[in-house]
Amino acid sequence: MHCQEPLKVNSKPIDDIIYRYRTAHMLNAAVENGIFTKLTFPKKAHQLAEEINHDPRTTEKLLNVLAASGLLIKSGEEYHDSYEAQTFLAEGGHNYIGNLVRITVGCSTLLDRLNDILKKGPALQDELDFDRVQLLGHAEGALCEELGPVMDVIKNMAEFTRSKRILDLGGGHGVYSIALAQSNPSSSVALFDRPNIIEFAKEFIAKYEMDDKIRFISGDFNADDIGTGYDMVFVSHVLYLSCDLNSVLRKIYNSLNDDGIVVLNHWMLDDCRTSPKVSVIFDLYLSLVSKKYGCHTISEFVELLINAGFGDVRIFDIRTPHSPSMIVMGLKKKR
Ligand SMILES: C[S@@+](CC[C@H](N)C(=O)[O-])C[C@H]1O[C@@H](n2cnc3c(N)ncnc32)[C@H](O)[C@@H]1O
Repeated sequence: MHCQEPLKVNSKPIDDIIYRYRTAHMLNAAVENGIFTKLTFPKKAHQLAEEINHDPRTTEKLLNVLAASGLLIKSGEEYHDSYEAQTFLAEGGHNYIGNLVRITVGCSTLLDRLNDILKKGPALQDELDFDRVQLLGHAEGALCEELGPVMDVIKNMAEFTRSKRILDLGGGHGVYSIALAQSNPSSSVALFDRPNIIEFAKEFIAKYEMDDKIRFISGDFNADDIGTGYDMVFVSHVLYLSCDLNSVLRKIYNSLNDDGIVVLNHWMLDDCRTSPKVSVIFDLYLSLVSKKYGCHTISEFVELLINAGFGDVRIFDIRTPHSPSMIVMGLKKKR
């Protein structure tokens, strides 16, 4: 070994990625096993291990990792939830995001096949169908991160305040349908989605006692009629299709009344396609799922709206480091 000059760079960017990967999986294991739910009251590691039928030695080490990460407090030999863990990771709370953790870290099966997919392309050619955990995860993501900023923008739109009929296209769980109906009680809100998702949305919206305020329409917006006479069509995290979106946007345009608006809320890329980082990672992830998926740039969304006939296109930047959503809206001008 010969002495080297001290390096002028360090490996921090690489270290950050590899260690986060490990801790993300450890957090996911804790969520999957309901550890935060069980540690709302203090317990010793061996007591918890016995309760969930796990190996006591590795359980204790996992609890130490969670304590080192600020998610558990260790006092003497006992562990209990930190305030953050109790708020977001103990089941039953209003702010629970355990399903969001599960779908974000649980996508590792696809990432485990990354090399293979990079060589051969994605195996799934069709569109993705969402299961219950994914739908709950999407709802938790909306409630925890985006609902407030998105609704702040929408509530300030004069076109929303005067809307009588609103469509939440690809509304999924229905969090946005609920918020739209609550923020404009004189409007009639319809949620459009695939039949199996509509079943979930009905159940989810009923928990908020809003099921009699929202109309449900099941179908495939590529093939079926989405209705007409809307004053606003809201589309959130739906248009991640890499195929031609012109026909979907044209369909939305035709479904609107004159002076009606379309509001698109998506994770979008900047023109360079290398920022913001979370959108860039999501763009790759989507393309691993299927050839049909990918993210779009803000300019692409603007161009799509203009091509579909919309005018007065406006952009609202509501990006945060973890949730890089942008809103792009367009107006159907009276001809
Ligand atoms: C990621 S979820 C978004 C849910 C919600 N809008 C949000 O922002 O969290 C996408 C939704 O679009 C729906 N969707 C995608 N393509 C569709 C199609 N062709 N017809 C009807 N719904 C569709 C999916 O079923 C899913 O519920």
